[in-house]
Amino acid sequence: MKFEPFVLPKELKLGSSTAALQVEGGDINSNWYRWCDLGNIKDGSHCKTASDHWNRVDEDIELMKAMNHQVYRMGLSWSKIEPEQGKFDDEVIAHYRDEISKLKSAGIEPLVTLHHFTNPLWFEDKGGFTKKGSVDDFMPYVEYVVRALGDWVSEWIPVNEPNVYLSFSYLFGDWPPGNISMGDYFKGSKNLGLAHCLCYEKIHTIRKEMGFDDTKVGTAFHQRVYHPKRDRFADRLPCNILRWLFENIHIKAAVEGKKSFPLGFGGRFGQKGKHVDFIGVNYYTRDIVSFTWNLGEGFGKREVKEGADTNDLGWEIYPEGLYEVGMDLWARYGIPMYITENGISDPDDKKRPAYLYSHLREVKNLIEDGVDLRRYYHWSTMDNFEWIEGLTSRFGLVHVDYESGKRTMNQSGKFYGEIAASKSVTDAMIKKYL
Ligand code: BGC
Repeated sequence: MKFEPFVLPKELKLGSSTAALQVEGGDINSNWYRWCDLGNIKDGSHCKTASDHWNRVDEDIELMKAMNHQVYRMGLSWSKIEPEQGKFDDEVIAHYRDEISKLKSAGIEPLVTLHHFTNPLWFEDKGGFTKKGSVDDFMPYVEYVVRALGDWVSEWIPVNEPNVYLSFSYLFGDWPPGNISMGDYFKGSKNLGLAHCLCYEKIHTIRKEMGFDDTKVGTAFHQRVYHPKRDRFADRLPCNILRWLFENIHIKAAVEGKKSFPLGFGGRFGQKGKHVDFIGVNYYTRDIVSFTWNLGEGFGKREVKEGADTNDLGWEIYPEGLYEVGMDLWARYGIPMYITENGISDPDDKKRPAYLYSHLREVKNLIEDGVDLRRYYHWSTMDNFEWIEGLTSRFGLVHVDYESGKRTMNQSGKFYGEIAASKSVTDAMIKKYL
């Protein structure tokens, strides 16, 4: 790769992103804690302590400050807040209020995710989001949280990546509850579409009642790029099927509030009108797709491009894909965009500096080509519990020693901090980090 200096617009805000279960530790009433107890994690690790962020909020905010963060995307743990249906834990919400007040005093604006893959056991055991009435069970938690934090938090994401959550939980069976059922994938898609739309209305209404008119509610869509293995109809078709079933039904549900086939035939979720104030994109990689008769794979066999550079999980590093998905969404909707996740599993931090460089350059290209892209949240602030991969996979700008909890800023973290401070990549940074 050729490295040349570039400048980012001053208005673009930079920061990083985490999810509650992946960093906090102590989430004993969640479906993932039980999934770990059952020995399902590939490397035998457990989410019980994760990065111990619950006990190290101050230290972690200092690290964000050192990396010149202006924004931070954090998740809340529904299972800690509502460990039993209808019983809310005021101490837990006080902890989050404290964390948010510290972020704000540090000049870091929080963006809060309400559901990031994990469920309280009471909800999971009723069938999670695959069941009728599940959205009614979710909404009291949303209302409680928005009333408790709404004076300080103006930006919200109701649901992180419905497509990833539902695929791993109900199509592949790798995540809890581990039951494979295509019917449940679609039932869950419908309910999460509805949940997003109802949250949009609820969050705006509550904050308006509280006297605020700066509310922003958006998405965090997992967006992959699908390219046909050969330029022929048989390989282009599964790309379109995957894009439809994995991405577009969710995008149409949350952005347009519409039920599209097979979730329905154009009917609505929630009221008419707006359903998002920004479109959040989580981008990691692309798939090379060829036709297969396997319906469970959406008729698409997915592979990594031969000879491609990959992260340590074998995912292709393909920065151009960020431009492709960003431009596609902008052309379709013209709605302000945030990159809500983008990052690399790279335990030695060897590839992350160049990854940051190449993906931020695509951010710059998108903006130069007219996209109203306002935020970039790198995944992730610190190493954390990477779901079924456990603690072995490391996405952090900051390295975590899981034995002692000790944090050490990676070279990439230092590089990112310099970029965030100057909104540019300079010759001196290229010499130092790339
Ligand atoms: C998820 C994160 C996850 C990351 C890397 C995203 O799909 O939202 O929770 O850690 O990808 O796999």
